[in-house]
Formats: sequence, C-alpha cells, structure tokens
Amino acid sequence: MSPEAFAPVAAAFAPDALGRTLRLRGWLLRGRSSGGILFLVLRDRTGSVQVTARRDVIGEAVFQAAEHVQNEGAVEVDGTVAEDRRAPGGREVRASALRIVHAGAPFPIFTDQTEEFRLDQRHLVVRSQEHVATWRLKAELLRALRLFLEEEEILEVTPPVLSGNAAEGGSEAFQIDYFGRPGYLSQTAQLYLEALIFPNERVYALTPSFRAEKSRTTRHLTEYLHLEVELAWCDLAALLELEERMVVAAAHALAARRPAELKVVGRPPEELAALAAPFPRLTYAEAIDRLAAQGLPVRWGSDLGTAEERALTIAERTPIFVTHFPRELKAFYMLRSSADPRTVEAADLLAPEGYGELIGGSCRETDLALLTERLQASGASVAEYDWYLDLRRHGSVPHAGFGLGIERLLRWLLRREHIRETTPFPRTPSRHTP
Ligand code: 4AD
Ligand code: MG
Repeated sequence: MSPEAFAPVAAAFAPDALGRTLRLRGWLLRGRSSGGILFLVLRDRTGSVQVTARRDVIGEAVFQAAEHVQNEGAVEVDGTVAEDRRAPGGREVRASALRIVHAGAPFPIFTDQTEEFRLDQRHLVVRSQEHVATWRLKAELLRALRLFLEEEEILEVTPPVLSGNAAEGGSEAFQIDYFGRPGYLSQTAQLYLEALIFPNERVYALTPSFRAEKSRTTRHLTEYLHLEVELAWCDLAALLELEERMVVAAAHALAARRPAELKVVGRPPEELAALAAPFPRLTYAEAIDRLAAQGLPVRWGSDLGTAEERALTIAERTPIFVTHFPRELKAFYMLRSSADPRTVEAADLLAPEGYGELIGGSCRETDLALLTERLQASGASVAEYDWYLDLRRHGSVPHAGFGLGIERLLRWLLRREHIRETTPFPRTPSRHTP
C-alpha cells in the first residue's frame, strides 16, 4: 500500500473488509477516552466509522495529543477492520497509527441552539447530517432536471445575470451602479431565452435570480436558483404537459436514487415514487369560486396570495395548475386569451399541502403592437426594451415558457418548513452573510 492510498470510510463496511488494514482520513464526529482507549467516530463524505486507538499501540505522546482533538478536528488513521457488535454498523477500525492533521478549536454547534445563532454559524452548520443529505438531494434534483430536459431536446444556454432591463417589474429588482449607469441583477432570464429560441427553438437556463422583496415568508429568498424553459411553437396545453412530466421525473429520480437521504430529512421515498401526472387544472375563475365556497372570497382581478394558495392546495396530494389569470395581474409579455380577452394564456403550478407556487409559465404575446401597448401600460421605458421588441419584427412565432424556483420545488419535495432549509447560504431581506 502506497502512503498516499487513502480509502474512503465506507470501505470499512465492504463485505470483504474484515481483517483488512485501511488508511483513512476525515473529521471527528465525536470522541472520548476511557481506560487507555480512545473511541473516535471518524467521518468523511462516504460515511462514518468508529475508530479505537489504544494507548499502548499508538504511543503515549500521540494518545495524549489525540485526547485533545475536538469535534470536527481532522485526523488520519491506519487501522484494521474488526467486528464489534456495539459499534454503529457492527464494525470498528482498530488503529495502529494516528496522525493529527488539525486538532481544532471547540466546535460551537450543539443541538437546541436558537435558529438565529445557527444561521450566524451556517458555515459550520452545513456539516450536519441533515444538511449533507439536503445538498445531495439538491444535486440529484438538478441532475434529474437536466437529464429530463436533455431527453426533450431542449438546449442549455447561458444568459447574463447582469442586465440593463428589470424584466419582472422594476420595484423588485436589485439595482446596481453599472459604471455610472443603472444596472439590475436578473429576476428572470426569459427575455434572453426568447431571443435564443429563434436559432434553437427549445432552450433552458439554470441561473440565479434576484428579488428585492421584503417578504419575510417561508417561501421567499432574495436570491434563488431559477430554471427557465422557453419553447417555440408551443401552446399552453403542451407547456403544462411538459411541466408536469418534468416535476414527476424529478420526484421519481429522488425516490429511486436518494432514498437514504430522503429518510434523513423525513420524507418517505414511497410518497415521491407515487407521484403521477396529469395534475388537476382549474382556471382562475374556478379557483375564486372554490375559494368563495371555502369562505375566502376573492374579487375578480385580485391576486391569489399565500393564504389563497394555501387554501386551494391544503387538501391536495399532487400539484395543481391554476390557469387564465386576469391580464392586470400578470406581466406585460403574456398572451391575451382568445376565449376570454380579460385573461391571459398563463398558468401557475401550485404544490400541494399548502406549499403553493412552484412554477409560473405562459404563452407570450407575439404581436408587436399589442406587446408595445402592454409594455407602455406597465410603466416601463419602451426604448430600453427596443431590442426585445425586435424579436416581434423578425419571424415572430407562437411560443411559451416557464420559470421554476429550484428551492421552492425542493422545499415541497423534502417537505421542509422554511425555504432557507433548501440552500446552504440563504439570502433573505435580513441576511446576506455568512
Ligand atoms: O412567477 P415568476 O416571477 O415568473 C418569472 O420570472 C417568469 N419570467 C419565468 C419565465 O416564464 N421564464 O417566477 C418564477 C418562479 C416562481 O414560480 C417561483 O417558484 C420562483 O420563481 N420564485 C421564487 N423562489 C424563491 N424566492 C422568491 N422570492 C421567488 N420569486 C419567484
Ligand atoms: Mg409567479
């Protein structure tokens, strides 16, 4: 064995590992010393294992130094895998040598600390088992979505995050000083994706989006990961069908590939495996009728807020689509519905059990005059959007797209209380550090 040949901790649990000598390295989950023996639990990215180190084997000096290694201190161990029925997983590694990489300061994270303290210590809290499981599930979710989109022949593209346009409404954009001119952090890549459908027809982007909303809710971040899809020749029915198949594929992938991590966060994998399309569809008009019957009257033209989305979805087991919102509620680029011109060809996908909006999507207005009129009515400067209006001057075709909040989707899939539990370093109105 070459001195560099470190084995992953999980190698101690391989069927043929008993009696083998392994060289391991990692961090101490915990340690104690009793009767001349050190009991250390060593963790790496593959798992954790109990290591025992005897004073008479590793030597007095190393033993004493090792007694002072703190939780989350780093060590290397050479040792032999043995059976031990009392150890977690039924095995331990009996050390023949131990090297201290970094003894560490006392680790400040314990159970029962306040949420505020834990958010201040987020850079250390990310080492916890629950966090590790969550970041693996998030990586799996992104992988599943990319795989799905690739199979649908939708091209991944890379729009900018800095822009001179505030596309979803100026008040919620973070403004920056762009060399003396106003600039914005992107709220959506949609306008750029619309430009890119003409050469590519089917495109998507996964970019950070920023919202300067002071909403202190359990589902708003000021920075989130936004998956946006834009498709030429697409109508609302085809768009919703793609959305629901994508969400089902993602849920199934987590259930199939990360059942252990799902159990760590408390979401039974079978529930995700059982998710099936199609999802129910109801129009905005039907939604407000249903809300009135539930004792939550909404005037035609008023938005569905958190309370209304909650009431609509609390008893549902699968996500639902709400379609055909009143025009005034939605962005300038949405296509007017020919069946009822008071409404737009748009749909929000709402997660069940009260979780609410996961996706916002729509068909886009293709007519230059109508689009210009709606842009003016929204109060935006038409001159700044002239490049976007060009897209309606050169081969304008029916098209549609949607945006999905990755953390919103993960929050529901993992059934987390707060959206900040779905991102390692959450950005909210009150916090942009650590
Ligand atoms: O509904 P939104 O604002 O739609 C758009 O931005 C479209 N231009 C997207 C498109 O068609 N390409 O945002 C889309 C999704 C929401 O459904 C929600 O999941 C998520 O982005 N989202 C947020 N997620 C976390 N924190 C916030 N503050 C969010 N705001 C929107
Ligand atoms: Mg929306």
